Amino acid sequence: MTLAIRTENVWKTYHPGSPRQVDAVRDISIEIEEGTIAALGGPSGSGKSTALSLIGLLTRPSQGKVYLGTEDVSKLSEVFRTKMRRETIGFIFQTQYLIPQLSAVENVALPLLCTDISRSKAEEIAKERLISVDMEHRLDFRVVELSGGELQRVCIARALMNNPKILIADEPSSSIDEALTKELLNTLRTMVDDEGLTVVVASHDPMVLQWADVRHLLHDGQIVQDV
Ligand SMILES: Nc1ncnc2c1ncn2[C@@H]1O[C@H](COP(=O)(O)OP(=O)(O)OP(=O)(O)O)[C@@H](O)[C@H]1O
Ligand SMILES: [Mg+2]
Repeated sequence: MTLAIRTENVWKTYHPGSPRQVDAVRDISIEIEEGTIAALGGPSGSGKSTALSLIGLLTRPSQGKVYLGTEDVSKLSEVFRTKMRRETIGFIFQTQYLIPQLSAVENVALPLLCTDISRSKAEEIAKERLISVDMEHRLDFRVVELSGGELQRVCIARALMNNPKILIADEPSSSIDEALTKELLNTLRTMVDDEGLTVVVASHDPMVLQWADVRHLLHDGQIVQDV
C-alpha cells in the first residue's frame, strides 16, 4: 500500500490567543492511500474545508505534520509549497472561480498561461481535457452560457490541467442535481481507476459520502468516526 497523504496530529488554530480564537482542526491523523477516494463528512463548521486546505498546501498546520507521499510538506518553504501545489494538486472549490466572459476552453487553459507553454498549445490541451469530460459540444461557449453541470465539468477539466496526483474537491455537488452528481462522480471514479488519481472530497451529500472508499466524519474539528 502506498500512501498519497498522511496527516499526523494536525491542528489549525485561527487567531490564536485572541478572543476570536478558533481551533478549526484538532489533532487530526489520517492516512489516504494512493488511487482511492477519501471523503470528509460532518456538519457545517466542523473543519472539512480547513482540513482540505491543509492537505492542499493552501495553509500550514499550527501543529503537527502533513505528508504528501513520503515528504513532510509542513516545514517546506513557501516557494517549494507553491511549486508542489502547482505540480501535484488540482482543486475544485465550493465557489466556482471561472471567468464569465471567457469560453470554456479559455477558462480551462488559464492555469497553463502562466507557464512557458504557448497559448495555442495550452488551448489544445484544454480542449482534450474538456473532451474527456464530455464537453466537446460546448468548447467555445462562454461559461455564462453553460448549465450547472456543464460548469462543474469545466471546473474538473481545469483542475486536471496540471495532471495532478491529488484532486481536492470541496462540496463538488453543491450546485448540481442528483443526475449530474452521479455523472460527476462516475467521471471522477474513472480517473481514479484509470489514472491512479487520489481524491479527497468534503461533502454533506450522502451520495458523495457513499461513493467514497473511506469516510472520515468530523465534529468540531475532530474526527469522530472513520467508516
Ligand atoms: N480563515 C479563517 N479565519 C477564522 N476562522 C475560520 C477561518 N476559516 C474557517 N474558520 C472557522 O473554522 C471553523 C471550520 O470552518 P470550515 O470552513 O473548515 O468548516 P466546514 O466543515 O468546511 O463547514 P461548511 O460545511 O459550512 O463548509 C468554522 O467555525 C469557521 O468559522
Ligand atoms: Mg466547507
